[in-house]
Amino acid sequence: MKGVFELPGDKSISHRVLMLAALASGPCQIRNLNNGADCASTIQCLQQLGIGVDGEIVIHPAPMQISEQPLDCGNSGSTIRMLTGLLAGQDLPATLIGDLSLIRRPMRRLAEPLRQMGAVLRLRDEEYPPIVLEEGIKRPIIYRMPVNSAQVKTAILLAGMRFPGTRVSEPVPTRDHTERLFEYFKFQPGRTSIPAFEYDVPADPSSAAFFIAGALLRKNSDITFRNLLMNPYRVSYMRKLHQAGAPIEIKNRRLVQNELVADVRVRSGLLMSPIQILPEEVPSLIDEIPVLSLLGTVCGFEVSGAEELRLKECDRIDAMVSNLETMNIRVEEREDGYRVWPGSFREGVARTFGDHRIAMTFAVAGMELDDPDCVKISFPEFFSILEEALI
Ligand code: S3P
Repeated sequence: MKGVFELPGDKSISHRVLMLAALASGPCQIRNLNNGADCASTIQCLQQLGIGVDGEIVIHPAPMQISEQPLDCGNSGSTIRMLTGLLAGQDLPATLIGDLSLIRRPMRRLAEPLRQMGAVLRLRDEEYPPIVLEEGIKRPIIYRMPVNSAQVKTAILLAGMRFPGTRVSEPVPTRDHTERLFEYFKFQPGRTSIPAFEYDVPADPSSAAFFIAGALLRKNSDITFRNLLMNPYRVSYMRKLHQAGAPIEIKNRRLVQNELVADVRVRSGLLMSPIQILPEEVPSLIDEIPVLSLLGTVCGFEVSGAEELRLKECDRIDAMVSNLETMNIRVEEREDGYRVWPGSFREGVARTFGDHRIAMTFAVAGMELDDPDCVKISFPEFFSILEEALI
């Protein structure tokens, strides 16, 4: 794999910037917004709430209005969780729904703190979407999260924006983009609104992860990613690969808009030692575990304390284990993780389970996919960039 790429904007930051722009005091311009279907779901929900969004991604904030129609969050856990928090904070009743994957994902972790803040909301079977938000929050909260979830943390922070005093602590720190954006916009809960802003979204490191793995699986690779987000809670997969022996060079590190970014160069090299992921390391590489475990076919891989993986767009432990088994790789599945032994794999068709990250993991391994289209959730340009890099 070869080339120099500036990848589309980070998905996590894109959702957050869109939602904060909806509350700003004037038009906001966002550049390099992630153009996947998940962020399109956030945009569509905001439009349904009366926010103007034009083609160049300028957000025209307006007082949000009640939507008569349910808000369709599609496949996006970030949209449904963060938007519920935002709406609870604005005291705007709403019904939030999603696709067949999203309506099976847990929401009690979100309802619990919002209820403690005084919100009234209903879930299907006390756990799943649709989320019916009837009344907004009435007070701040000091909340110790029982699970690691940056989406839930963000929902609480967005809900608490009008009330000073909300604090969230987590068992293990998770991505802190919301906190950094509040700091960058000098936003103090309960004080002022966010001034109109312009924002350039840095390139998504979770998208880069697939090409980095693809480069390491092949000989003579030399691939560079410019302006890649290097938030400390997003780059543990690079540290793990570096520890296993991967030649990864990080250059031109800088702080831009209160986020670390850098240029990252990856060349082919032997992965010498097995990749071992401990429970406390899981939150800072949660989305990269599938693709890291693919490299376990080269050097061995083991993760524990990762039961959250079963609650993503699909059960990612089951998806990885079943596909690797079909590829003739030795794997052991556990409730909270799995282990992969090195071995050469048989090419064929991989099952994506409709999950973009499973699809991209097996695509960089050279597998065919039963549903290639699902990469559009986070990365519509994935196949064209893959093709360009493989020439
Ligand atoms: C995200 C947090 C993580 C991650 C997801 C994006 C975010 O989800 O898996 O892709 O932007 O905050 P959880 O909050 O469910 O861990």
